[in-house]
Amino acid sequence: MGEVFVRSSLVPVLLILTVLPLFLSITPSIAWRPWPNHYNSSDLQFGGSKKYEGSSEFVHLKYHMGPVLTANITVHTIWYGTWQKPQKKIIREFINSMSAVDSKRPSVSGWWKIVQLYTDQTGSNISRNVHLGAEKNDRFYSHGKSLTRLSIQSVIKSAISSSTNPLPINPGSGLYLLLTSDDVYVQDFCGQVCGFHYFTFPSIVGYTLPYAWIGNSAKQCPGVCAYPFAVPDYIPGLKPFKSPNGDVGVDGMISVIGHEIAELATNPLVNAWYAGQDPSFPVEIADLCEGIYGTGGGGSYTGQLLDGHDGATYNMNGIRRRFLVQWVWNHVVNYCSGPNALDQ
Ligand SMILES: *[C@@H]1O[C@H](CO)[C@@H](O)[C@H](O)[C@H]1NC(C)=O
Ligand SMILES: *[C@@H]1O[C@H](CO)[C@@H](O)[C@H](O)[C@H]1NC(C)=O
Ligand SMILES: *[C@@H]1O[C@H](CO)[C@@H](O)[C@H](O)[C@H]1NC(C)=O
Repeated sequence: MGEVFVRSSLVPVLLILTVLPLFLSITPSIAWRPWPNHYNSSDLQFGGSKKYEGSSEFVHLKYHMGPVLTANITVHTIWYGTWQKPQKKIIREFINSMSAVDSKRPSVSGWWKIVQLYTDQTGSNISRNVHLGAEKNDRFYSHGKSLTRLSIQSVIKSAISSSTNPLPINPGSGLYLLLTSDDVYVQDFCGQVCGFHYFTFPSIVGYTLPYAWIGNSAKQCPGVCAYPFAVPDYIPGLKPFKSPNGDVGVDGMISVIGHEIAELATNPLVNAWYAGQDPSFPVEIADLCEGIYGTGGGGSYTGQLLDGHDGATYNMNGIRRRFLVQWVWNHVVNYCSGPNALDQ
């Protein structure tokens, strides 16, 4: 009896009305938008009252012939700023959980199986193996405490060209994850994005490397980027969920890291799997399912989640830990799915 299905109450419509206008005007090129961003805003009014989980009528996800990550995926991490050991451990164990074979269901590896459903031109699937690669500590904020999208590339450049333990250069199957500590501001953080992915420019970095940035929002905007483990102050009566690993900022990052790695695998050079007419504003497999973590999710409702004995909320198991990770688009069935779906 470790798990009980809960969380079927709707977040008040007030929340939708208050928060939505903030995000409607935003169209960053490759970015995770912090709030559920659905394409037909009138759908939001239906919230949990219909089976939403993405709406296949409006989604035309296409393959644009570019490469996807079919070889073993190695995630090289740059810890920028001040990181505690237990924080690093939560994130490492999440990444290692993606290809763990023996986690209890519903599992992070079950979630990664949905990403594996995507193929390249030759019919090769995304790799089932995701490994942690090398790590680099950038403890002294080499490029300051406020980064731009371009200076992020300089941070990566420094990490791969450092005179001591440089990160390996691994363009075909390496992903570079830049994680910034809670005292680092990154351009558009909180107001528009909680993380994003792209690839580095040879003119800055010397190579084309797929990378993602994800920030720890604990001090700057947990109600936005670590939702639902923190809630915006201006919404009275809305209670945060208890986070599964005891660190609101890092537990909130986990879903964003999952989002970005899923998209890096299926669209590493932004010419493979995405929906939308405009390649400078691709809508990718995790964008389509933002804010959906369980059956019935959509609009402002997270969907059916799991409750641990300790009262923490999560939706999947990994190695020794539990995590809350958003669902991704399943192009075989044409809706968002996750390992905790009730109809599986
Ligand atoms: C938006 O959704 C509503 C209700 O589901 C539907 O009636 C309307 O036609 C949709 N609008 C667009 C632009 O698809
Ligand atoms: C890919 O990963 C698997 C599982 O860890 C390992 O057995 C295999 O040797 C790796 N393949 C390559 C080419 O590194
Ligand atoms: C590979 O992708 C195809 C097409 O989506 C799918 O039918 C198949 O099950 C996938 N294989 C694996 C091992 O995930």
